[in-house]
Amino acid sequence: MSINVNEDKLLFHLQTKNTSYIVGVMENGEVGQIYYGKKVHQSDNYDNLQTREWRNCIPSLDNDHGDFQLEMLKQEYASFGKGDFRKPAFQVTEENGSRVTVLNYEGYQVTSGKSRLEAGLPSTFDDNDDDAETLTIKLTDDLTGLTVFLNYSVFPNQDVIVRSTKFVNQGSETLSLNRALSLQLDLPDKEYDLLHFHGSWARERELSRDAIHDGIQEIGSLRTASSHQENPFFILARHDTNEDQGNAFGFNLVYSGNFIDSVEVDQYRTTRVLVGINPEEFEWQLAPNAEFQTPEAVVSFSDSGLNQLSQQLGKFYEKHLVNPNFANELRPILINNWEATEFNINEEKLTSFAKTAKKIGIEMLVLDDGWFGKRNDDTSSLGDWKVNLDKFPSGLGHLSESIHGLGMKFGLWFEPEMISQNSDLFREHPEWLIVAPGRKPTPQRHQSVLDMSRDDVVEYLFESMAKIIEDNQIDYVKWDMNRNITEAFGAKLSADQQLEFGHRYILGVYALYQKLIDKFPNVLFESCASGGGRFDLGMMYYAPQAWTSDDTDAMERIKIQYGTSYGYPLSMMGAHISAVPNGLNGRQTPLSTRANVAYFGDFGYELDITSLDESIIAEMKQQVEFYKEYRRLFQFGKFYRIESPYDNRGSYSSWEVVDENQDVAVAALYQTMQRPNDSYVRLYFKGLDEDKQYLVNNDSHAYYGDELMNAGYFVSHFNRDERTGSVDFQSQLFVAKAK
Ligand code: GLA
Repeated sequence: MSINVNEDKLLFHLQTKNTSYIVGVMENGEVGQIYYGKKVHQSDNYDNLQTREWRNCIPSLDNDHGDFQLEMLKQEYASFGKGDFRKPAFQVTEENGSRVTVLNYEGYQVTSGKSRLEAGLPSTFDDNDDDAETLTIKLTDDLTGLTVFLNYSVFPNQDVIVRSTKFVNQGSETLSLNRALSLQLDLPDKEYDLLHFHGSWARERELSRDAIHDGIQEIGSLRTASSHQENPFFILARHDTNEDQGNAFGFNLVYSGNFIDSVEVDQYRTTRVLVGINPEEFEWQLAPNAEFQTPEAVVSFSDSGLNQLSQQLGKFYEKHLVNPNFANELRPILINNWEATEFNINEEKLTSFAKTAKKIGIEMLVLDDGWFGKRNDDTSSLGDWKVNLDKFPSGLGHLSESIHGLGMKFGLWFEPEMISQNSDLFREHPEWLIVAPGRKPTPQRHQSVLDMSRDDVVEYLFESMAKIIEDNQIDYVKWDMNRNITEAFGAKLSADQQLEFGHRYILGVYALYQKLIDKFPNVLFESCASGGGRFDLGMMYYAPQAWTSDDTDAMERIKIQYGTSYGYPLSMMGAHISAVPNGLNGRQTPLSTRANVAYFGDFGYELDITSLDESIIAEMKQQVEFYKEYRRLFQFGKFYRIESPYDNRGSYSSWEVVDENQDVAVAALYQTMQRPNDSYVRLYFKGLDEDKQYLVNNDSHAYYGDELMNAGYFVSHFNRDERTGSVDFQSQLFVAKAK
């Protein structure tokens, strides 16, 4: 039993293997937060955790000098207007303009398992009876008839709790829901660092770590996508927490649109965390009997450092979030033509790509942008999902057949949400393009965005994509999204519904994904948004992997993949080898290093393999063989961060994957700038079995796991790369196998 209820005192103690989450109904009928952290015993008395003292100069709810002062209390889903002046978790405006809501406890329900949300939102689930339980607490506001259901699903085996809220209007007036967050967590002090993952195009998810301070710190997005700039995932860790020890909470949101992660340190130096849909640019009209379901938020606690936190979250997603058809499936090694050809493609070129790919052992060819409409550059044709017969005179079916004939899979690029003004679709349906009345659309990459909040748009896209997928036996879809929304306006929505637009847009995206997945359960989807601009759990529900970044330079990728690994498992990260000099920064990195970085994820190639000399092809063949041998480990193994590329202390960084039985580990050590005559370097393995003996890179001598972890493994100096002639950017792999 993960959910223990004390009926007399209305206390709810949610327990996972290693954590406790305790809440209780307060005197005012709302729900208070009592404790979240390392597991504690169940008890019928948590008075010690709830002791109160009256404070001057803040309202008291019981009497003027009473100690029931909301401002001092940790709460679970704070309302607005009764004397808690911190940011509330939700807010409702009545027809008369009043914005005060008073919720009262009505009852609770505990159900076993965890079912998916029915509201067209991606969500977690417990299909395989992994002992999940769900607690729903019902609260109502007598004055307005607003009913609020607080949902808590407990996943005991991964130390995860998933929260969401459902609002139901059981009154007779329309209520405006001005904010409706998914998770609130009030913590008793402020001694935390905030770790968030900041970036831009080609520089996604760079770790940023600072102590939280008095006041409000917020990260979020108003781009109608989770964005390159901030990822919804963040961590609050004690100041002394590092990769291997210490307390940390990880938070994430199962959502791909505008979001907010807010951390408020109040006047009593306690911390309020809020996670959910960004209240700016949001309001929902809740008519009588209507419902609003928030997205789900995931929270997890570890007392054993950041590696442990990332690992438990990663396993949780693979078991309880990702499309089960692919969750444990090995992902294909692919070649994508984009960086090699851009729009300059035809059947002959792609066929020769496929043939060379086959020689190398690559398993899938992905035809990227440019195969449809009249698309010869980025100025036209988005929306015209019909094969370009100039480039593919016999359609894509012929190419698909020859790729399948080679025993390979065939993947195809789409950018469903977009429309070019120079397209047949725009000429036919100019009203489908998002633009505010009387305004001009602001261009980006010569393209605009389709109004995904409209059913007819979703239906058109479904029909046209389904036809292409079906006719050409597509095995994989790369779903791209290369710009954010400007001039947001829903032509089909009334004036008072305009702030629903952002959420309705993303619901339309989800609806399209769901329809396609239902029709094509065996097609693997990969999401992409100019690289990693929508790398979030909402997308991962439908598309189990994502293109991590358009930046494929190995040195930059170490940072991007390292940062991404805090919140997401390796199976979610597309990682490819591209050509040198790198298209973005001109850097020459050795082929071996590019491979040693790209192995840690869903491996592939993204360069012109038809113009390489035989020695390179031979090396690639070996890379593919090596990856195939360790693929399960590289995609689903336990990932450990060892030395951070964000610490500028040294010129090395390293990481490692270990299998579940601790029999095999592969670690990589990367060198950025070579320093002549440098000190000795040791690699400190992690996660091995102390008592097992391991052979490293087939050494003649075996070492105990404890020695490799505590004393480290000597790393011999780096040699010059044969092709670049440089020692910079070299790397080494260490395969440790138990005897
Ligand atoms: C985006 C993607 C790339 C590629 C191009 C095609 O930039 O991130 O991988 O698909 O679009 O236009």
